[in-house]
Amino acid sequence: MNIFIGGAWPYANGSLHLGHIAALLPGDILARYYRLKGESVLYVSGSDCNGTPISIRANQEGVAIQAIADRYHQEFIESFAKLGFSYDFYSRTDSQQHHEVVQQIFLQLLDNGYIYKKEIEQTYCEFDQQFLPDRYVEGICPNCGHPSRGDQCDNCSTILDPLDLIDRKCKICGNAPTTRATEHFYFSLSSFQQELEEKVRKVRANKTWRENAIHLTERYLTEGLHDRAVSRDLANGVSVPVQGYEDKKVYVWIEAVSGYYSASQQWANETHQSDEAYWNEETVSYYVHGKDNIPFHSIIWPSILSGIGKDTLPTHIISNEYLTLEKKKISTSKNWAVWIPSILESYHPDSIRYFLTANAPEARDADFSWREFIFSHNTELLGAYGNLVNRTLKFIDKSFDGTVSGEIDADIAELIQSKYGEIGHLVEQGHFKQAIETIFETIRFGNKYFDAKQPWKIIHENIDECKKILFTCVHIIANCAQLLSPFLPFSSEKVKEMLNLAPYTWQPIEQKAYQTFQVSPLFERIDLSKIEVELEKLKLNAI
Ligand code: MF3
Ligand code: ZN
Repeated sequence: MNIFIGGAWPYANGSLHLGHIAALLPGDILARYYRLKGESVLYVSGSDCNGTPISIRANQEGVAIQAIADRYHQEFIESFAKLGFSYDFYSRTDSQQHHEVVQQIFLQLLDNGYIYKKEIEQTYCEFDQQFLPDRYVEGICPNCGHPSRGDQCDNCSTILDPLDLIDRKCKICGNAPTTRATEHFYFSLSSFQQELEEKVRKVRANKTWRENAIHLTERYLTEGLHDRAVSRDLANGVSVPVQGYEDKKVYVWIEAVSGYYSASQQWANETHQSDEAYWNEETVSYYVHGKDNIPFHSIIWPSILSGIGKDTLPTHIISNEYLTLEKKKISTSKNWAVWIPSILESYHPDSIRYFLTANAPEARDADFSWREFIFSHNTELLGAYGNLVNRTLKFIDKSFDGTVSGEIDADIAELIQSKYGEIGHLVEQGHFKQAIETIFETIRFGNKYFDAKQPWKIIHENIDECKKILFTCVHIIANCAQLLSPFLPFSSEKVKEMLNLAPYTWQPIEQKAYQTFQVSPLFERIDLSKIEVELEKLKLNAI
């Protein structure tokens, strides 16, 4: 099977925070899982270096857009690497090849009659003397009455034209904008209404898109798809490839999503392979992002692909709900966020991956609190997993010279074997939370077994029996570490080294003997006083 995995492209205008990672982490779990299973995987993403957020930041700091993009792109690469993200290719939207691919796609859509020119009224700020980017027009959502901004309502998810907003204000200067006539290119989304309706019927039956993606897409389809402007008057981005219109830029709707395709091609060039297998009807594709990105992937991207003659519907959409922080909405402008470079300075990447998977905002919003985070590390990672590994391996080290062999309990062998199918199925269906919970049940089962069998007593009565108990425990450990490796790659790697295991696969490990090497604790306890320290820091830095 050929598995394409596309992680959403974060804007390179500020550091990544936990909300980004909560949305993107499933992509890495999928990539690692499918590779273990022996499938061909192409996992790509990149930094979104275009659009208004970056030009605004560059203006504020008085530096070039390129400098901002370079700074955060570099930081993203480091953050993702430290968190163990295993992208096959991590690109950026200001790369030459991305520009070329976007322009090709734009021209193909134009040729095929799906893009056309139209004169429209657009919001213009007389004070700042510019047409306003969608997100910089603020006002009241005509649908739900909440404060909103001009591309999509955060409250009710309605796609908005800035002109739809009531009581419009320019975000830059606060004045009410006027409108001016300008020419723009429109993408004929309405042409794809029927085709999308059919596709959504299919994914509803197969349940391969998250419920929120199906629901929102059906809502848009019921309201009827409208043609949308796909060019903008922006400072940075991909120029419209039509003579006389080069000053206009291709809008994020077409531009950023095309990154999946341009990054695949860059990967193909650099590795001297073809990416064709990842872009045909047989391809299984996963798109992984937060819920604000749903229409990009469920409506716009499928329409673009269809408009250029590629029949590769996103087969799976993994669209997470939001992560809140201490029960409040994460806000970068209010600095209410836990920034990735900062949390990585003091905490183990697997602690972050564990928490964000076990508490993933899969079907509803989920909360990150320092208390829960530190407790989950101490109780689950250290208390359950680390403890099983440590006491078993130490025991073997001390009492058996680091070697155990034998047969394991047949029921336990069968139980372990059954986990591969069970967890694999959960992962493939996008139920990561349940998957990791199932592995931890097995770990807790291992601890109960150890407690009930009392090897520290048995050793004085029946040494063979004691060996058998420990051998069974190592069998559980080796297999749980392998099952956990897509989720917690760093600690799984450490277990692999301590037991000198062969490279992981998605087949049960069945060794006749195990040997331990340089046993050391998997995790350190986090002192509970850190909870207050971190909370103070968070509140102190909030604006
Ligand atoms: N950077 C944009 C955003 O965060 C676009 C992401 S769309 C995607 O909203 F296709 F790149 F995922
Ligand atoms: Zn609304």
